[in-house]
Amino acid sequence: MFPPRSIDRRSAVQVLHQARPRKDELMRREPRIIPMGPDDLAATVEMHRRCSSQTLWSRYHWAMPDPRTYLPALLGRPGSVHLAARDSTGRIVAVGHLMPDRSAVEAALLVEDAWQGRGLGTRMPRHLGHHALMGGWATLYGLVLSGDKRMAAVLGHAPVPVHRREEGGVVTAWVHVRDLAAGSPTRRRRGSLRAEHR
Ligand SMILES: CC(C)(COP(=O)(O)OP(=O)(O)OC[C@H]1O[C@@H](n2cnc3c(N)ncnc32)[C@H](O)[C@@H]1OP(=O)(O)O)[C@@H](O)C(=O)NCCC(=O)NCCS
Repeated sequence: MFPPRSIDRRSAVQVLHQARPRKDELMRREPRIIPMGPDDLAATVEMHRRCSSQTLWSRYHWAMPDPRTYLPALLGRPGSVHLAARDSTGRIVAVGHLMPDRSAVEAALLVEDAWQGRGLGTRMPRHLGHHALMGGWATLYGLVLSGDKRMAAVLGHAPVPVHRREEGGVVTAWVHVRDLAAGSPTRRRRGSLRAEHR
């Protein structure tokens, strides 16, 4: 991280300046995660069509028909919250959903194949957790196929304890939303905000 002692202070400043991307460059490079809704149906359908059947299977646990048949109901579900990550052209490359169920809310996420392994699957749950906290839900849960190593890695990055129950090849993983309050933006120091909720 820091340059060796042999590099003088001026060189060190130059090295750090060159090595560290400017914040506005990062904002351009990293897809922003922002709310979306039923108006984004067409872009969400296109994003689903770019996903492999394996990726869709992991998300829905079912061989899915044409996304136009089920996405309108998903995006129009009463009380739900939907987030999208858009690339620099505005194209949706990942989506996250909160779907309320009495005092609990189900979270689901989908990153299109070409964008997997670039951190979106880790960032999206942080944003969903923030919205669950703001929405006042007590429990946030997700349904994950048993043996899904990617989601196991994603859950391993959760800032709070994750509880799990496995049944019939599906793991229900949940957190107490109140636990997330300790890491909410209002309680975090400004300097750590970006690291926790990029
Ligand atoms: C699961 C999913 C959301 C992860 O998204 P992503 O953008 O690839 O996630 P990240 O880039 O943050 O990577 C998450 C972790 O997966 C790991 N990973 C990636 N590919 C992997 C693989 N083949 N085997 C094991 N781990 C893998 C990464 O190394 C990373 O772990 P690390 O941070 O400890 O190194 C994405 O693969 C996806 O959309 N899958 C289909 C839908 C789904 O399963 N949704 C969950 C149920 S709702």
